[in-house]
Amino acid sequence: MKYPDIIDFRSDTVTKPTKPMLEAMFNAKVGDDVFEEDPTIKALEEKAASMFGKEAALFCSSGTMTNQIAIKIQTQPGQEIVFEKDSHVYYAEGGGVAFNSGLSMRMISGDRGRIKAEDVIENINPDNVHAPITSLVSLENTSNKGGGSCYDIETIRSIADACQSHGLKLHLDGARIFNAIIASSYSATEIGKPFDSISVCLSKGLGAPVGSVLISTKENIKEARRVRKVFGGGMRQAGFLAAAGIYALDHNISRLKDDHSRARAIGNTLTKLSFVEEVLPVETNIILFRITNKISTDDFINKLAAHNIKAAPFGKQIIRMVTHIEINDDMVEHTLSVLQKF
Ligand SMILES: Cc1ncc(COP(=O)(O)O)c(C=O)c1O
Repeated sequence: MKYPDIIDFRSDTVTKPTKPMLEAMFNAKVGDDVFEEDPTIKALEEKAASMFGKEAALFCSSGTMTNQIAIKIQTQPGQEIVFEKDSHVYYAEGGGVAFNSGLSMRMISGDRGRIKAEDVIENINPDNVHAPITSLVSLENTSNKGGGSCYDIETIRSIADACQSHGLKLHLDGARIFNAIIASSYSATEIGKPFDSISVCLSKGLGAPVGSVLISTKENIKEARRVRKVFGGGMRQAGFLAAAGIYALDHNISRLKDDHSRARAIGNTLTKLSFVEEVLPVETNIILFRITNKISTDDFINKLAAHNIKAAPFGKQIIRMVTHIEINDDMVEHTLSVLQKF
């Protein structure tokens, strides 16, 4: 079996469009989207909104932008957002929660990126002039730093109930929500219902080169469109990119189960290797594992790289590997045989 020059497990963001996806992009009908005249973007937004049972959606350049816009439109400066301490919106969006929205942050230490309704209730500030007003809760499903862990729908519903009874909005960072949907028993509409806003990335497991959609009510999306412009995110003939998103939603969701079974195979083998101390349970396409102190993270990454295999350092002695559309069974087998000879 021949392999590409590099077998890249660093992230599911590294994928390039397949030939049929490129053809769909090439054939897209486009227009100026700031004038709301791009038919392909409109079609993507309608499709995404209806999949999650919501009224409207907005195509943006990145998951960071959809998260940040959702936070901006549902809070006022000086208020407080609640999230798990390992949330992407906190550790990997450049401090945007403070920079863009002027928010105070309340971090909860959860279980592999997941929190519970009790955590939310305990972390709502009292109505007292000393405390910032708690106004928004943000959940991440699947959780990146949690090793692709998924929420169950009952937990999400109970968090939504807690939010509703305390007048809080609930946002979903669903960068990998379709991985959660494929790994769990809920549908997109079911998982969409408890949330006020949902960010979905097209450019991760779904294999599009660029793009995320923010999904919410018509009123919220009208405001989001204004904020997107302020953030410099108004795109013109971006229907070429939206066409990749439509293709991804039509063709690349059910195949995620293959990414998950490949990730499980890698996780199972890793647990048997002497230099691996712990592998987080593999629920979706992300494998997070801790190597012993006998080898440094850099040496481990370099040793793999010498075999043209890329993995990502993810903290002290922690390595992340992610399966995606460009990883096949032969590549997994080859990688495992390399690891077994370390
Ligand atoms: C959980 C999560 N949310 C949001 C994002 C942001 O997406 P983007 O890289 O498109 O800004 C990422 C990116 O890796 C992510 O893992």
